[in-house]
Amino acid sequence: MTQEFSKLVDGFQRHINYFRVSVTDRCNLRCLYCMPRKGLPKLSHEEILTYEEILRILRVATTMGITKVRVTGGEPFARKGLLSFLERLTSLPGLQDISLTTNGVLAAQHLQHIWEMGIRRINISLDTLSRERYRQITGIDGFDRVWESIDKAHTIGFDPIRINMVVIAGLNDHEVLDFARLSITSPYQIRFIEYMPIGPAEFNASSRFVPTNVIKEKVEALGPLIPVNNSRFDGPAQRYRLEGARGELGFISPISEHFCGRCNRMRLTADGKLRVCLLSDLSVDLKGPIRAGISDAELANLLVEAAGLKPSGHTALSSSIIAPSGTMSSIGG
Ligand code: 5AD
Ligand code: SF4
Repeated sequence: MTQEFSKLVDGFQRHINYFRVSVTDRCNLRCLYCMPRKGLPKLSHEEILTYEEILRILRVATTMGITKVRVTGGEPFARKGLLSFLERLTSLPGLQDISLTTNGVLAAQHLQHIWEMGIRRINISLDTLSRERYRQITGIDGFDRVWESIDKAHTIGFDPIRINMVVIAGLNDHEVLDFARLSITSPYQIRFIEYMPIGPAEFNASSRFVPTNVIKEKVEALGPLIPVNNSRFDGPAQRYRLEGARGELGFISPISEHFCGRCNRMRLTADGKLRVCLLSDLSVDLKGPIRAGISDAELANLLVEAAGLKPSGHTALSSSIIAPSGTMSSIGG
């Protein structure tokens, strides 16, 4: 991964050029490993940033070297007005890459519009290839709608189309081979993501972790993994393909591989905090100061301050797994 020049440089000379933006903490699904079945307390309308506030932060961020934005949630399509927000986002000068992460259930009917705005890259979260297990994991009978989105994204021409599978022991780890086979017959980039054990208490998260080396061993039953060169948009994934495959495989190892040294990102949470690391609670509040009337220059200084707080790396494997407060659905994965 390249680390382009940015005015947002942390204490370890890492250049921050990538913001992940959670537009809502809400989600239309209740994935067992992410949310309690009853749902989580929701942020109120006043607590979350308005789209105008998000766009202002991003406009200032682009003047500081941010060139990449990924829109996440919760589920982005669960927030009203997403499409007009994306339209305004795509017309911000200075952004070279805008992408979207969605669970795909509500996406199909909007993909053509999103394509027309110029967005080309989409990640769809899908943890199982079984309709029935999908219902068990997410609480919703949405499997066919996800596939409708994937098929439509393909027909329209989105590239790459990534399918993110979080590999979780006892839940879907027996499906790793099926997902890998999907990369042979279809042009999708399958991403195997290590589960970060920070889900709801009743999920017994600490026994659910499957390291990338174990996932890879399973996949290698289909043949050797042929490395694919990383492009500048790859982030921390290790990319491979199987012989003769139309698609690709990627492995993301937030726990077992310390890619912190190459970290180029910060996360804007739905309630307006700039979170400096996924696995740490360090953050800088932007919402309060913005609502108190700070100038763009002061806002830029807060971005610099946040970059300066970034830790050199996380300690997830060194002693015990740290559990950051805040859930994936509010942090945005
Ligand atoms: N560990 C890894 N990935 C997770 N996601 C949600 N919770 C976790 C977790 N504990 C994933 C979602 C989605 C992305 C936004 O984050 O499945 O693919
Ligand atoms: Fe599932 Fe993602 Fe929604 Fe969490 S935020 S419940 S992982 S779809």
